[in-house]
This record gives sequence, structure tokens and C-alpha cells, in this order.
Amino acid sequence: MRIDLRFDQQHVLVFGGTTGINFGIAEAFAVQGASVTVVSRKPENVAKAVERLSVHGHGVAGFCADVRSFESVGTALDSAVERFGPLDVLVSGAAGNFFCEAKDMSANGFRAVVDIDLVGTFNVARQAYAHLRKPGAAFINITAPQSSIAMRFQAHACAAKAGVDQLTRVLALEWGGEGIRVNAISPGPIDGTEGVKRLMGQTDEALAQAVGRVPLQRMGTLDDIANLALFLASPYAGYLSGAVIPCDGGGALESVKPTLEAAGRAAAAAPQL
Ligand code: NAP
Ligand code: COA
Repeated sequence: MRIDLRFDQQHVLVFGGTTGINFGIAEAFAVQGASVTVVSRKPENVAKAVERLSVHGHGVAGFCADVRSFESVGTALDSAVERFGPLDVLVSGAAGNFFCEAKDMSANGFRAVVDIDLVGTFNVARQAYAHLRKPGAAFINITAPQSSIAMRFQAHACAAKAGVDQLTRVLALEWGGEGIRVNAISPGPIDGTEGVKRLMGQTDEALAQAVGRVPLQRMGTLDDIANLALFLASPYAGYLSGAVIPCDGGGALESVKPTLEAAGRAAAAAPQL
């Protein structure tokens, strides 16, 4: 279920917005009347996203760019702004990830993920700054629980997303005076997405285990994340900046889920004082 907040006459640009969670965000703004631009690397993803967004009847544009390239990010932004004007909402969500133990990870593999997630977010922020509506723009980064919870086999993504969180806070400090709010969303496991396929597997058992760790006992949906993005971009969040907000059913609250049975066994085994 999506919340209802209008963004008529506004320009929303989503980097990495052609698939998954970021597409869900782009679509929510399109439904709410915004002109939406999506940017990612693959022409087929861009074309498909533009086609799907166009059914909502507002302005839609799509451009190919790799966020690792400062120049290509700038070119995409110039084209988008020429089409729909200054940016009211900017979302930086492009990311890459794969499972690999640090001792086996190549330097290029580490660099690839840090370049996409962290350097890419800087490139987006740095190039977009001139085009953000001042005052009034909202900049939303998509981070992940890996930014604060160390996770095996994800040295690259943990390091990169930790950087994204701090970049969010620094930009909130530096841009607040011009009326730009900067926040980040940290999604939990979102059903049907590439991230879940890559990191949790697709077996029923793996997915049940993932759900079991979430206090609300379900996977998140695209709408769960899109609703938070709509709220963050709206005047209702007008005093919210520099926040990294988990949207994860409470999943990041504990790293290990103990059972009462295990706790009972531990208590029985403990020395009686
Ligand atoms: P996804 O569908 O793979 O989305 C990633 C998007 O980024 C794609 O549109 C991809 O399109 C684009 N992209 C990748 N590399 C790029 C690059 N170098 N330059 C420009 N665009 C690039 O993954 P997702 O699972 O929905 O994840 C979306 C975001 O949510 C990510 O920031 C991820 O870290 C975060 N997140 C996801 C979950 C989850 O449960 N899925 C949980 C926590 C956080 P192209 O291939 O066309 O470039
Ligand atoms: N295990 C170990 N190393 C891997 C790997 C894996 N599963 N996948 C890629 N790598 C390494 C490659 O071997 C290469 O290193 P090398 O040159 O030393 O051999 C390096 O990572 C870069 O790989 P490449 O395929 O050239 O990168 P790319 O720029 O084309 O793609 C990725 C970037 C690797 C992050 C790719 O998975 C991607 O595009 N992901 C986007 C979608 C995604 O991850 N979505 C989920 C978001 S949570």
C-alpha cells in the first residue's frame, strides 16, 4: 500500500532507478504526479523502466550513465535538467554487491563495489549540487544495514555503505544552510529484489531464516521503502536532515537471535554463585 502525497510540478531524479527498490521509489513519485528521470548503465534497463513509468501519464526520461564516471553523471544530469528543470528530489541508489571472503577478494572487486556505492554517491552529490532547488530540495541516499553491522563476505559493501552514511551526515551539515535536506534510507530485506537474491539465496529455507530474524516477521516490500522516500521528500519531513533511517521491520536491532531454549541451557550450565 502506498501513501498519498502529491509531487505535481516537481522533478525527481533517481540514480540506479531502473530496477528493484530504486525503481519502486521512482514509480511512487511518478504516481504522485512528479516528472521522473531514471539513470543506470544498461540501455535495456533504462528503456524498460521508461516504458513502465510512462503509463502514469507524467514526464519521464531515462539516461544511461555509470555512477563511477564523474563525467557521465554530469552529462546525464545536464540532460535531465534541460528536460524537466532543477531537481526537487534526488535519490542516489546505485549499488553492487557479491559474496566473497576478504582474503579471496581481488583488489578490483573491492574497488568496484566501493566505486559504485560510495564514490558513485559522491559523484552524484557533487555533480547534482548545482542543479538542486535551493531552498527546498531533498537528497535521499540508499544505504544498507551493512553500514553499521559487520557482515562476513561483504568487506566491500560494509566499508562502502558506512561511507555513504557519513557522507549523508556531512552533506546535511554543509547543505542545510541552503535549505537542502539530506537523509538516507537503510532497507531491510526487500522481497523479490536482486539484493535478496544475491545475499540470501532463493531457497524457501534461506528466505524463512531471513524473515525469522525480522521482529515484524515479514520481508519488506518495494512500497515500504517508497513510502519512506515520499515522506522524506515531503514537507512533513521538513525538519529532518542528517538521519539514516532503518526501514527493516526492526531487523537491524540485533545481530544474533537467541532462543529461550538456548538461553535456558546457558543458564543451567552457568556456575551457581
Ligand atoms: P538492483 O535491482 O540491482 O538495483 C541496483 C540499480 O543500480 C540497478 O538499476 C542498476 O542498473 C544500477 N546500477 C548498478 N551499478 C551501477 C553503476 N555503476 N552506475 C549506474 N547505475 C548502476 O538492487 P536492489 O536490491 O533493488 O538494491 C537497490 C538499493 O537498495 C541498493 O543501494 C542496495 O544497496 C540497497 N539495499 C537493498 C536491499 C535489498 O533487500 N535488496 C537491502 C538493503 C539495501 P544497471 O545494471 O542498468 O546499471
Ligand atoms: N566473487 C568474487 N569476485 C567477483 C564476483 C564474485 N561473485 N563478481 C565480480 N567479482 C570481481 C571480478 O572478478 C572483478 O575483479 P578482477 O578484475 O580482479 O577479476 C571485479 O569484481 C569487477 O567485476 P566486473 O564484472 O568487471 O565488474 P562490473 O563493473 O561489470 O560489475 C559488480 C560490478 C561486480 C558489482 C556487478 O555484480 C554488478 O554490476 N552489480 C550490480 C547489481 C547488484 O549487485 N545489485 C545488488 C545490489 S545490493
